[in-house]
Amino acid sequence: MSKTYEIAVVPGDGIGPEVCAAAVEAICAAAGKSAFNLVELPAGAAHFQKSGTALPEETFQACKAAGAILHGAAGIPGVVYPDGTEAGIEFGLQLRFRLDLYANVRPIRLHPGVTSPLKDMKPGDIDYVILRENTEGLYASRGSGTNLRDEVATDTLVMTRKGVERIARKAFELARQRNGAPKDGKKRVTVCDKANVLRSYAFFRKVCQEVAQDYPDVELDYGYADAMMVHMVRRPDFYDVIVTENMFGDIISDLGAVTVGGMGMSPSAEIGDERGFFQAAHGSAPDIAGQGVANPLGTILAGAMMLEWLGERHQDRALVAAAKRIDGAVQTVLKDGEALPPDLGGSAGTEKVTAAVCRAMDRQMAAA
Ligand code: IPM
Ligand code: MN
Repeated sequence: MSKTYEIAVVPGDGIGPEVCAAAVEAICAAAGKSAFNLVELPAGAAHFQKSGTALPEETFQACKAAGAILHGAAGIPGVVYPDGTEAGIEFGLQLRFRLDLYANVRPIRLHPGVTSPLKDMKPGDIDYVILRENTEGLYASRGSGTNLRDEVATDTLVMTRKGVERIARKAFELARQRNGAPKDGKKRVTVCDKANVLRSYAFFRKVCQEVAQDYPDVELDYGYADAMMVHMVRRPDFYDVIVTENMFGDIISDLGAVTVGGMGMSPSAEIGDERGFFQAAHGSAPDIAGQGVANPLGTILAGAMMLEWLGERHQDRALVAAAKRIDGAVQTVLKDGEALPPDLGGSAGTEKVTAAVCRAMDRQMAAA
């Protein structure tokens, strides 16, 4: 008897419902509908407009109880708190803090069939993971910075030994599992910080160096965040795992995404020791919402990461295989080029791209 996993499904705002539905379709095609008990839950900016909260307590509790959480996207421009910050994004941010989802894993991979804006970069040349610390750093101050009489405002960057140690360890463990950087095959962890300027970042670097002692087989490398923006454009093939503070991770992951086809291609897995939250790294794209043209591949790939994480956690080889099927099908669709979404130069809508991914999986399974 195969297992059934409860998945909290939060469609959210903007293109969220469209890309979330696509990922649900893909995971069901990959693992079979009966593998999941899908529970749809409200959260986000539209829910805030209706109810005054972007994260209802029932949604939080259901997410906490679920085997994994799948999210579309959140946020509507102008839906803000009195302090000017966005309300809709409260859902994801609170999940990170309250479920202790400390590792934000963001693979940056140039897939076959996708043209990088970086000339000379071919599929396979860009294949690294940004590991973004997800519970502290500058984001730790969310909701508790100060605004003094509209004259002075502050937010505090927070680093703890526990927080840095665990993300650094994750980075080295991840590098061990991977095949090394495309350029030279070396297993490498690059610590991205501003250790030259701020104590907090110097501490981040120091703790990473301490953890590195346990991993002599992995090369330790450093980059200041500003310089990293240059290196990620000039020599993306040099990178394997980049570990960084929360806010820097947010910023550099958008740059990474655009080098491999854009935000639509960028999955994100936010994991703690017990829980996992999966979504694309992009926002709710209100400008194209409801038109059926959003690229669903980022969320579909996040769905694959969810199955892989669940499968490994529960020693479920069928689920790990299902994750690989999704990944393989995405590659096939991109290579074929017949159902490319507009952001990749094609004209296929969300449903057409999703159907092509599911068909590619059917073919894979028929051939096996
Ligand atoms: C991301 C997003 C979020 C972030 C927003 C939606 C809160 O940009 O996941 O990268 O800033 O972390
Ligand atoms: Mn971001």
